[in-house]
Amino acid sequence: MAQGEDFLNPNFTEADRHSDIRPKTIDKFIGQSKVKQKLQVYMQAAMKRGDALDHVLLCGPPGVGKTTLANIIACELAVGITTTSGPILERQGDLAAILTNISPQSVLFVDEIHRINRTVEEILYPALEDYKLDIILGKGPAAKTIRLDLPKFTLIGATTRQGMLSAPLRDRFGVVLFMDYYETEDLVEILKNASQTLNVKITDDGAFEIARRSRGTPRIATRLLKRVRDFAEIKYEGVIDKKVADYSLNLLEIDQLGLDAIDNKILSTVIEKYDGGPVSGDTISISVGEDSDTIYDVYEPYLIKLGFLQRTPRGRVATRLAYNHLKIAYNKKSDGAFAAEQQQLF
Ligand SMILES: Nc1ncnc2c1ncn2[C@@H]1O[C@H](COP(=O)(O)OP(=O)(O)O)[C@@H](O)[C@H]1O
Ligand SMILES: [Mg+2]
Repeated sequence: MAQGEDFLNPNFTEADRHSDIRPKTIDKFIGQSKVKQKLQVYMQAAMKRGDALDHVLLCGPPGVGKTTLANIIACELAVGITTTSGPILERQGDLAAILTNISPQSVLFVDEIHRINRTVEEILYPALEDYKLDIILGKGPAAKTIRLDLPKFTLIGATTRQGMLSAPLRDRFGVVLFMDYYETEDLVEILKNASQTLNVKITDDGAFEIARRSRGTPRIATRLLKRVRDFAEIKYEGVIDKKVADYSLNLLEIDQLGLDAIDNKILSTVIEKYDGGPVSGDTISISVGEDSDTIYDVYEPYLIKLGFLQRTPRGRVATRLAYNHLKIAYNKKSDGAFAAEQQQLF
């Protein structure tokens, strides 16, 4: 795992567990307006028909609100929710036990659904499609299958890597929603709401300063808010303004774009050790000494969004913007190599 306190790693959820800043209704869920609009229609239609909501797949980077939204959906539908996750379901029996206990029309939330193993996944297919559970009794030639009826339920799957989902599983979701990084204005609103809950005063420019350094991710924004609050309470008069936010975030080594030491190490590794790339994600992970899943889920997508890294068929390439950011002279020769890469892409 990352060094230090892992502020920017949205996979790190320890602090969230003890907070009640998670919104509980859809109108308190800020941003993602397209996702919300669609969901509201699907939920209303299902409720009008007195039917279970179709299975929903929520895709997006860590910390953008997938778990929060799954809980909100259950709450809005006024049904129960059972939560599990892909890696926990080791054997078919683990999932079978959950499915046989599910109440009609309720939600089964499977986090990290791309990590579910293939044998467990197989019993999901008939469960999702026909609401049937096939159980094999015994072993060898005497084994027989019995088919149980399940109540109609809604599976909500969450994934940071929709590409890792098998096609048959993906096809069984009637609703697939993509949650992207948040706009700064949305994060400002989230921070203001969270400050109220945490009972700390924040100015507009204070909220803006934290928001723009939160890499488009609510979980990072609320976590940084808590740390900045500590500085505000101990060193200043308890109010978070731009000055306090700036002071604290600099101390936490989070730069103006929200990048931390690891982001900058990734960029300098690609530029200095691999001449700007192309270099594979796994090689980056080894060079930087950071777990490859964290590189793929957390660091790389945001560096790509900022336009600092590009994904090409032969690996990752640092762009001119990345050189500028690190104040390293851009090597013109790599321009040609880069253009060639781009041509291969199209
Ligand atoms: N749209 C949102 N509005 C307000 N707070 C949000 C929103 N999305 C996420 N959060 C906050 O960010 C934290 C992380 O969200 P979570 O649902 O756990 O993300 P994910 O499951 O995608 O990793 C939550 O504790 C919640 O407080
Ligand atoms: Mg989650």
